[in-house]
Amino acid sequence: MTNQKSLNREQYQDSSQYDIRTEILKFGSHPLSPWQWLAKQYDFSSAKTILELGCGNGLFWQVAASLLTPQQTVVATDFSAGMLAASQTNLKNIPQAKQFSYQVEDAEQLSFSENHFEVVLAHLLMHLLSSPLQALHEIKRMLTPGGFAGITVFPNDFMQSIFILANELLPQSHYKSAAEKCSVNVLERELTKLFSRIEKLEYVNHLKITESVKVVQFIRSTSMAKQHNLTEDYIECLTNKADQLISSLGALVTSFKLTLFIVTK
Ligand SMILES: C[S@@+](CC[C@H](N)C(=O)[O-])C[C@H]1O[C@@H](n2cnc3c(N)ncnc32)[C@H](O)[C@@H]1O
Repeated sequence: MTNQKSLNREQYQDSSQYDIRTEILKFGSHPLSPWQWLAKQYDFSSAKTILELGCGNGLFWQVAASLLTPQQTVVATDFSAGMLAASQTNLKNIPQAKQFSYQVEDAEQLSFSENHFEVVLAHLLMHLLSSPLQALHEIKRMLTPGGFAGITVFPNDFMQSIFILANELLPQSHYKSAAEKCSVNVLERELTKLFSRIEKLEYVNHLKITESVKVVQFIRSTSMAKQHNLTEDYIECLTNKADQLISSLGALVTSFKLTLFIVTK
C-alpha cells in the first residue's frame, strides 16, 4: 500500500476527523453549503443509476436525495467501510433510503462493468488518490455514452490563510496541500483529453473564523497532523498565533473554495 493510501486509511477509518473539518463551514457567509450548491448544479433527469465515488459520510445525498425520482437508484461507494457505515446511518431515515445501496470500492480500480451508470460523482476525492488520472479513466469507463460526471477539486487558495499559518510554524518540511496533490489545471488538461464536453464552475464561501480552537481543530484533523507528527509545542504556537490574528483583525479570514467540472462522455 502506498504511503498516501495508508495515511488515507487512517484519516478516514471513520467520519470523526471529517466531521471536525466540515464543522468549520459554520463560519461561512455563503447561503448554501458546498453540497447544497453542488446539488443545484446537476440535472439527474436522464439517469437511471448514479454512482458516487468516495461518498464519505453521505453529506451530498442528505441534501440532494429529494432530487431523485422513485425509479432512480444510487450506488454509494467509498474505500473506507467506516465512512460507508456513516453514510448508511446518515441516510437511513430519508424517504429515498431504499433507493440506495452501499459498496466498498477503490475509485482507482472499480469492480463494475463498463457503461454502467448515467452519472458518476466524485466530490472532494481526487487529491486523495495515488493516481487521479487512473480514477478519471475509471469514471469514463463506468459512464454510458452521453452520461456525465461531476468531479470537484480544490483550487490553490483553498483555506489558504489557515494552511499558510500552519505551514509557517512547521519546523522543517512543507505540507503538501490538496491543490498541490491534484491541481485544477492538471485535472482540466486531462479531462479535456478524455471527455467531449466540459463545464467548469466555482463555489466560493468566505469564512470569518472567530474561534482559534476551531482553527487548531481543523489543522489537527487533516493528514498534516499525522504526516508531521504535530507536537504539543506546535499546537500551542498555532493557538497563540491564531488568537493574535483573531484579536487584532476580529477574525481569521479564509475561503472554502471548490472547482466543479461537469464532463460528458
Ligand atoms: C474528503 S472526503 C469527501 C467525502 C464526500 N465525497 C463529500 O463530499 O463529503 C473523501 C472520501 O474519499 C474516500 N477515499 C479516499 N481514497 C479513496 C479511494 N482510493 N477510493 C474511494 N474512496 C476513497 C475517503 O474514505 C473519504 O470518505
